[in-house]
Amino acid sequence: MTSSPLSGKHIVLGITGGIAAYKSAMLTRLLVKAGAEVQVIMTPNAREFITPVTLSTLSGKPVITDFFSANTGEWHSHVDLGLWADAFVVAPATASTIAKMACGVADNMLVTSYLSTRARVFIAPAMDFDMMRHPSTARNIATLRADGCVIIEAAEGELASHLTGKGRMEEPENIVRVLEDAFRPAASSLSGKKILITAGPTYEKIDPVRFIGNYSTGRMGYAIANEAAARGAEVTIVSGPVGHFDLHPGVTVVHVESAIEMLEQSQKAFADADIAILAAAVADYRPAVRYDSKIKREEDGIRSIELVKNPDIAATLGNAKRPGQFLAGFALETDHELDNARRKLARKNLDMIVLNSLRDPGAGFGVPTNKVTLVFAGNDPIVELPLKPKTEVAADILDYISR
Ligand code: CTP
Repeated sequence: MTSSPLSGKHIVLGITGGIAAYKSAMLTRLLVKAGAEVQVIMTPNAREFITPVTLSTLSGKPVITDFFSANTGEWHSHVDLGLWADAFVVAPATASTIAKMACGVADNMLVTSYLSTRARVFIAPAMDFDMMRHPSTARNIATLRADGCVIIEAAEGELASHLTGKGRMEEPENIVRVLEDAFRPAASSLSGKKILITAGPTYEKIDPVRFIGNYSTGRMGYAIANEAAARGAEVTIVSGPVGHFDLHPGVTVVHVESAIEMLEQSQKAFADADIAILAAAVADYRPAVRYDSKIKREEDGIRSIELVKNPDIAATLGNAKRPGQFLAGFALETDHELDNARRKLARKNLDMIVLNSLRDPGAGFGVPTNKVTLVFAGNDPIVELPLKPKTEVAADILDYISR
């Protein structure tokens, strides 16, 4: 039997005061069975629903509720606990705890430890149907998602209130599965996959010494290429003119200059690719005439250059896409960002668009960081990621595509 990716992991399991707390006993058992070390923190209300004795027996560790132990006066360090954790799981998470986490109200050991942790955070909401769909709960959940927490969506079904709807805590087996997926070593998650990436600017020649180009450095595309190769993919990067990047051995670079060359090479690589991620900043236009000799300076007057439209590589691949192929594009916008991104997604037949706004400081061309929003075809909710290094953004993008 292969061991669980949770084996040896430190998991803080936060339990809050809801009927679904009874399921946390099973969750604790499954986590321990998977080889994880589990430290349970209960909110004071949670103790009304399930006894600490059950949970300390199952986890093999005393349950923490208060900042101090009533018996010994020992102080429970929320900072140490937060740093000890590899995963911080709140299941069930009531509307009240979700609100406190979203706003940073540190009035109990659970939320205080949450604020101190650097671990990945997973939240499994459970509450009544009407509380679940209340705008304030939706807003708080969206805030936590934007803060980088993974929300393990509540399921539909009969609730403790006898109402039927969305609000049941996800089953413990499924929560464990989400955690295992998150901790599965990335090394082989894309093995056997062929990935095409376009990166960098295109140069559209005016004459032998001049071109029309843009400020793209290729950094985002190369970060995705290296990360995909590190996860076992066979990567072809069709790259416009860029500076030097260290490359993972699993990356093959095809150097191109113009949009037309980039299209040709991308079409070739797309034919047997599973995934294409188009991060290049392709020039929309090129000079209608390319001069073979250097244009000389005129003594007077205005010189104009007539431009013709370049092919849209994303739309061309989108048209040729076969079932099972996944096509992702980027959109760099300055205004009406989300609307523009959604329109682009549809027009180019993409499955996902990575939106960055030039209005966000630290996002876009030439900087080592990026702040992106992932927009998907279909009904999947958008994902707003915080500002982070492009290498981490690359990992996030691939995580979402792998899912
Ligand atoms: N793209 C492409 N070929 C082009 C233009 C864009 O493949 N000729 C791709 C980009 O690599 C990116 C996506 O399409 O993945 C969106 O690029 P963007 O420049 O934002 O879109 P445009 O269609 O050029 O729209 P606009 O410039 O009007 O915003």
